[in-house]
Amino acid sequence: MGQSFLRGKGPAVVAHRGASEVSPEHTLAAYRRAVEAGADGLECDIRLTSDGHLVCVHDRRIERTSNGRGVLSTMSLEELKSFDWGSWKNPWAELDDEAELPSPDLLTVLTLDELLATVRDAGRPLELAIETKHPTRYAGLVERRLVEALDRYGWAHPKVGTESPVRVMSFSWLSLRRLRVMAPGLRTVLLMDRVPLRFRDGSLPTGVSCAGPSLELVTAHPEYVDRAHKHGHQVYVWTVNDAPDVHHCRDIGVDAIISDHPEAALRTLAEP
Ligand code: G3P
Ligand code: CA
Repeated sequence: MGQSFLRGKGPAVVAHRGASEVSPEHTLAAYRRAVEAGADGLECDIRLTSDGHLVCVHDRRIERTSNGRGVLSTMSLEELKSFDWGSWKNPWAELDDEAELPSPDLLTVLTLDELLATVRDAGRPLELAIETKHPTRYAGLVERRLVEALDRYGWAHPKVGTESPVRVMSFSWLSLRRLRVMAPGLRTVLLMDRVPLRFRDGSLPTGVSCAGPSLELVTAHPEYVDRAHKHGHQVYVWTVNDAPDVHHCRDIGVDAIISDHPEAALRTLAEP
């Protein structure tokens, strides 16, 4: 414990919504940039469209990250694909003068399926941390669609001797419980901005494999990391961007940090 699951030294770095500090979040451009930067994993949020597709979007409404308007769940995938999901954020951010701008097809709304294919085709091990957003509204449909999508890649029910690159995260125990029933082998992360009293000893609800405390939580209670480790749970901390926070997470033995700027976090971790 306290070791990266992929690099073996210090916490693994998981790119929060892709390299979202410097690229439009949740676009293929942001994920490619994170992979090029050497991130150990990618994080995404998932939401259901009106025609039943899972797309990688954080907000309930689409105004902040696209040039469209409205509530995502009322729109079809085709409608969502017709909007521009890149221009709200400067696509030149921190690119050198010679670099080419991402093409428009890398700056549209991304389906979960497209992100799964990106992970499969990355050419190196990559973890994917998928967060179910507001799962209680859909009576299990989000989880069902998620498991179906993962099954297409052999990642919901991995064969003996193989490991799924996916962890499913949620603030909702209900969502993780549903997943445990549908896909008992799938690793799950319970996101927390406070630890419920009965889990302060580092234990977690039955079937949950990893703890997902906020940075604020482990800053106020660094001892929580050791407690979770004593119960055999890895610890994923979000959202860790500044160098002192990266150092803090490394020093208290966090297993993975979820960061908007994986390149900077990796640079910080490489410093002596
Ligand atoms: O990785 C967990 C973190 O993403 C939870 O917060 O709002 O960024 O989805 P949020
Ligand atoms: Ca998230």
